[in-house]
Amino acid sequence: MIWKFITFFVRKLDPEIAHKLTIKFLKLGFHPRLNQSVVPIKIGNLIFKNLLGVAAGFDKNAEVINKIHFLNFGFTEVGTITPVPQYGNPKPRIFRLEKDKAIINRNGFNNLGMLEAKKRLEDYRKSYPVGSDFLVGINIGPNKNSKDRFNDYKVLAKNLSVFADYISINVSSPNTPKLRDFQKKENLEKVINFVKDGIAASKTIKNKLPIFLKIAPDINKQTLNSIIEIAHSQKIFGLIISNTTLDRDKNLKSKRSIESGGLSGKPLFKKSTDILSQANKIIKNNNYKLFLIAAGGVSDSKSAYVKILCGAHLVQLYSSLTFEGPLVANKIIGGMLKLMKRDNIENIFDIVGITDNPIEAMNIAINGFKNP
Ligand SMILES: Cc1cc2nc3c(=O)[nH]c(=O)nc-3n(C[C@H](O)[C@H](O)[C@H](O)COP(=O)(O)O)c2cc1C
Repeated sequence: MIWKFITFFVRKLDPEIAHKLTIKFLKLGFHPRLNQSVVPIKIGNLIFKNLLGVAAGFDKNAEVINKIHFLNFGFTEVGTITPVPQYGNPKPRIFRLEKDKAIINRNGFNNLGMLEAKKRLEDYRKSYPVGSDFLVGINIGPNKNSKDRFNDYKVLAKNLSVFADYISINVSSPNTPKLRDFQKKENLEKVINFVKDGIAASKTIKNKLPIFLKIAPDINKQTLNSIIEIAHSQKIFGLIISNTTLDRDKNLKSKRSIESGGLSGKPLFKKSTDILSQANKIIKNNNYKLFLIAAGGVSDSKSAYVKILCGAHLVQLYSSLTFEGPLVANKIIGGMLKLMKRDNIENIFDIVGITDNPIEAMNIAINGFKNP
């Protein structure tokens, strides 16, 4: 009850101040301490105690990793981290669309930079070495005014890989001009090679550090196909689908929906799930080995279940933390365990990507396998 009340109060504040306050609360230890109910999964050599994680952007500067442990998440993705500190776009740059349970942000990679993140990650790893049962992904991106964005990715990979359970290459934020051009074939191959060079030059003991590509939902089938072909041929570990969208649904009710920036939360659910489902189909048809992390509009157990049925091995969220508060993961995992029990599923892996049709997936989530 108290957390509901606090979430209600915090939501009355300006979104950026609310976020700062949330990070401060977490740092001070003012957060729930939840009993861990979990849905475990193993993908490749990564073992997740719990398949639900916090998406990039929440803990940009790797400040509260050890606090997220308490909120019943199995992993977190820190960042996006850029080589040098960056203020980002002018404020206000985050808008809450209350009526739509959505957020628009045009932050533009505001972060304290690689060296600050490195200090914090180093500190965190003293207590929780790589391979601990709470996993940490590190999401990297270039500085807006960098003279050599490719080299930025390399420098970041070189400096930060040693602290990562996986690296996430951000080529999809809509708030850094031309960043999404890195999803194009020649650029994407080059970025991946620069990241691999960075990892090779780092002191990481994991010679095969998993790399994920985080992609945009605003892409056509041809671009998706080309990204998957490259990911496969470059032996990428997986894709994160998706970042925020530039699209605005006509049905959005909030006045703020005209703000420019990336839209996340409930209205992103359909679009990101469609792309996830298409990706799953392409990967299955070609017999490729690529793991999928779903992000976009997950706010309850059914939306998380749909993502898994459509191909996700792992699920991330950000916006619903804002709307539902710090108990959201507990609620989702508790609900998922009930759905699994209802459907007689012991290992979640068994239902990953079981359908190519998001509508069918929603039917299963609502009615179970027996009553489609
Ligand atoms: C305020 C805000 C900041 C974000 N910052 C980043 C970021 O720095 N890097 C990134 O890859 N994604 C960022 N994202 C996107 C999220 O990681 C996620 O992909 C997206 O919000 C969809 O998930 P959701 O609907 O659960 O929020 C941000 C999202 C929000 C709402």
